[in-house]
Amino acid sequence: MANEMESLNPNGVIGAEETIDTSKRLKVGIIGTGWIAESHIESYLKMPDVDIVAGADIIPGKARAFFKRFNVDARVYLSTEELLEKEELDAVSVCTYNAAHAKCAILALNAGINVLLEKPMCVTIEEAAEIVKAEKRSGKVLSVGFQPRFDPNMKMIKKIVESGELGDIYYIQTGGGRRRGIPTPFGTSFIQKDTAGIGALADIGCYSLDMALNAIGYPKPLTVTGYKSDFFGKNKDYFRTEGKPESYADIFGVDDFAAAFIRLEGGIILDFRIAWAMHLDTPGDTIIMGKKGSLRIPSTECWNGSVGGEMTIYHDLEGLGTETKVPVIEDQSKGLFYQKIRSFLDAVKNGGAAPVPASQIIYNQAILDGIAKSADLGHEIEIVIPEI
Ligand SMILES: NC(=O)c1ccc[n+]([C@@H]2O[C@H](COP(=O)([O-])OP(=O)(O)OC[C@H]3O[C@@H](n4cnc5c(N)ncnc54)[C@H](O)[C@@H]3O)[C@@H](O)[C@H]2O)c1
Repeated sequence: MANEMESLNPNGVIGAEETIDTSKRLKVGIIGTGWIAESHIESYLKMPDVDIVAGADIIPGKARAFFKRFNVDARVYLSTEELLEKEELDAVSVCTYNAAHAKCAILALNAGINVLLEKPMCVTIEEAAEIVKAEKRSGKVLSVGFQPRFDPNMKMIKKIVESGELGDIYYIQTGGGRRRGIPTPFGTSFIQKDTAGIGALADIGCYSLDMALNAIGYPKPLTVTGYKSDFFGKNKDYFRTEGKPESYADIFGVDDFAAAFIRLEGGIILDFRIAWAMHLDTPGDTIIMGKKGSLRIPSTECWNGSVGGEMTIYHDLEGLGTETKVPVIEDQSKGLFYQKIRSFLDAVKNGGAAPVPASQIIYNQAILDGIAKSADLGHEIEIVIPEI
């Protein structure tokens, strides 16, 4: 049986010792062989109980070239349907762009295959509900690819909240962003409406929401007033100065900035802002305010779901306003990406629960969807979670 032991060494560094049972092997497939699929295959290749047997990409030749680059002898297909029909798989990584997440995840679950689905979960709340329904019907594991969950600092945020040190939480400010950073690493799949569906709001916004919501136990979102804009993405000068084709501005079809005010069950307020680009260094730290104390989590320069420095707890000690510093914990594991995949495979092998369950992330998606819809309508809306 897989056995992972966490140990805290004298320097406050968390390390993981791991033994993997290789008597049961897993046949794995990769759907969508673009940029992030590289991180998936690199992690799978480190696992002695995994056989990467097949993959699919809708672009002819792309999957073949991908596996060749990693020296993996896998069968390749041009559609998820054909991959699922011809292969007997235990698990797939769904690494397509956002707009194809729901379709590919549901096809795989319907075929009785466990799914590791890249973030954001999908584009709309309706898609998220269909994914959760398919997961329930299948009885398989579906985990959403939030690797920051495995960051020891993120775990510390949750531990601080759960310890009661902050008391009842009533207000959270979260989000982050980059001064310049509209993602166009290998093309336009992040900036076109038909492939990405949503922009910065979902791409990096989903991480900030997960940081805060996971810490407080994922309360249900109730209402949202949202705003989004595309002032940088629609500006030809932006792409020219970034050394990218000016024509990207013509096809830019998503948001590059979003902000929202969200009410959560339990009387908690969530104040959110996220940017791929802005005339500012950061739109602010994450703060979690409670009746007994508050926590400040420094933002990062290039927001991707990590902690920008030591955190501070503000509380009273014998009536005296006191600050407690929480040092940054260095991750000494094989990496957050490795852990997200290993924890998924362990759940598949051992019949465990999904490490990042869709039952939680549907609330994350409901907020993203709510912000987009409220922004389009120009007023506050109720967040309605479909019956599952
Ligand atoms: N977890 C992380 O750190 C992280 C980082 C980057 C991207 N991502 C997520 O990963 C996903 C992919 O991002 P990317 O940068 O790899 O994009 P990409 O555009 O480089 O790759 C996506 C690939 O999916 C393929 N594809 C699309 N629809 C398909 C379908 N129906 N069947 C098979 N293949 C299909 C495309 O042809 C493309 O090759 C996005 O949802 C993104 O948000 C996660």
